[in-house]
Amino acid sequence: MEILVTGGAGYIGSHTCIALLEAGHSVVVVDDLRNSRAEIIEKVERITKKKIQFYLIDVTNEVAVNEVFSNHSFDGVIHFAGLKAVGESVNQPLDYYYNNIVSTMILAKVCKKYGVKKFVFSSSATVYGENKVPFIETMELLPTTNPYGETKVMSERILADLARIDESFSVVVLRYFNPVGAHTSGLIGELPNGIPNNLMPYIAQVADKELDNLKIYGNDYPTIDGTGVRDYIHIMDLAEGHVLAMEKVVEGANIYNLGTGIGTSVLQLIGAFEKATGLKIPYIYVKRRPGDIAECYANVNKAKEELNWVAKRSLIEMCRDTWRFQISQNKKSDL
Ligand code: NAD
Ligand code: UD1
Repeated sequence: MEILVTGGAGYIGSHTCIALLEAGHSVVVVDDLRNSRAEIIEKVERITKKKIQFYLIDVTNEVAVNEVFSNHSFDGVIHFAGLKAVGESVNQPLDYYYNNIVSTMILAKVCKKYGVKKFVFSSSATVYGENKVPFIETMELLPTTNPYGETKVMSERILADLARIDESFSVVVLRYFNPVGAHTSGLIGELPNGIPNNLMPYIAQVADKELDNLKIYGNDYPTIDGTGVRDYIHIMDLAEGHVLAMEKVVEGANIYNLGTGIGTSVLQLIGAFEKATGLKIPYIYVKRRPGDIAECYANVNKAKEELNWVAKRSLIEMCRDTWRFQISQNKKSDL
């Protein structure tokens, strides 16, 4: 299949490009590199020994998107391009609503124009809000407390409405839990700008002595040890889920959770990271981060039954691969 990957130079997109190319598909990437670098595409080509056609364009530019479609006969689109920082979205709501929703609408419109029937969309577990865990696809969505989350809810609804009026337009919404880790080559991984907001890259930078200690946001949650519980999933497992979602013939709108189904607390993740690397992670407790929920993990039965997909990589592999990428950035030592 020939697949258009928007945001393919980003964290999840680049790993998915590897999985798609390794499964024998051809890949075209569009990305304006606002949160990534062109060299990532070259690294993906180096890892897979395959070529990617790359267009440096903004997906909210309808004319440019039309031009890309007119040069190819895509079998499907995977739409990763978007802004993703929750805190930033509170301060820059218009940027988030504009970029994340307009990009989805333009891509869907151009897909229809060119007869592209398959649309895979990057959603997030954040759409479940404060539902009761484990989160299951049939749950009613609850408010997400931030514009980023709202863009995911709205994009899902727009795509579902389009699938409703045209059964042959197949939409697959993938709700990611917490993607972490990196490709085992150590060549690509997550590259947060400045001080990381998310736990795993923060731990990696503490381990690398770029940051002094981890601040654990709250130890008074009603969880196994008082710290927040999340469903961490290896980025390559997530990437492989996209390949199966793209290959599966489905009609209408379909939603799948992509997670492991296992909840891990902050302290448990620190323990796993220390075990995987032999390094000590110093931490202190600070107050809860506004907007955080106590627990978030998936019911993963639907993806297993319908996509034949399960996450295979362990928490230790997630930590080990994160660390390999972290040190490869500095070329300080080998694992
Ligand atoms: P990322 O920032 O690493 O990748 C996004 C890519 O899209 C970047 O390369 C960026 O340059 C590009 N981009 C953004 N706006 C664009 C535009 N208008 N035109 C062209 N390119 C544009 O983010 P990621 O972690 O790879 O996330 C990919 C998708 O998955 C996003 O939609 C995000 O909201 C969603 N998601 C991510 C997570 C996570 O934890 N990383 C969790 C749930 C959902
Ligand atoms: C974040 C996003 C969420 C997104 C998800 C998936 C926020 C507020 N939410 O949520 O929208 O869908 O990533 O990637 O950014 N923690 C610490 N110290 C830190 C960082 C995190 O204790 O320095 C804790 C958090 O309180 C939480 C856990 O670690 O309990 C995981 O945090 P994080 O990696 O930011 O992910 P999410 O909170 O799930």
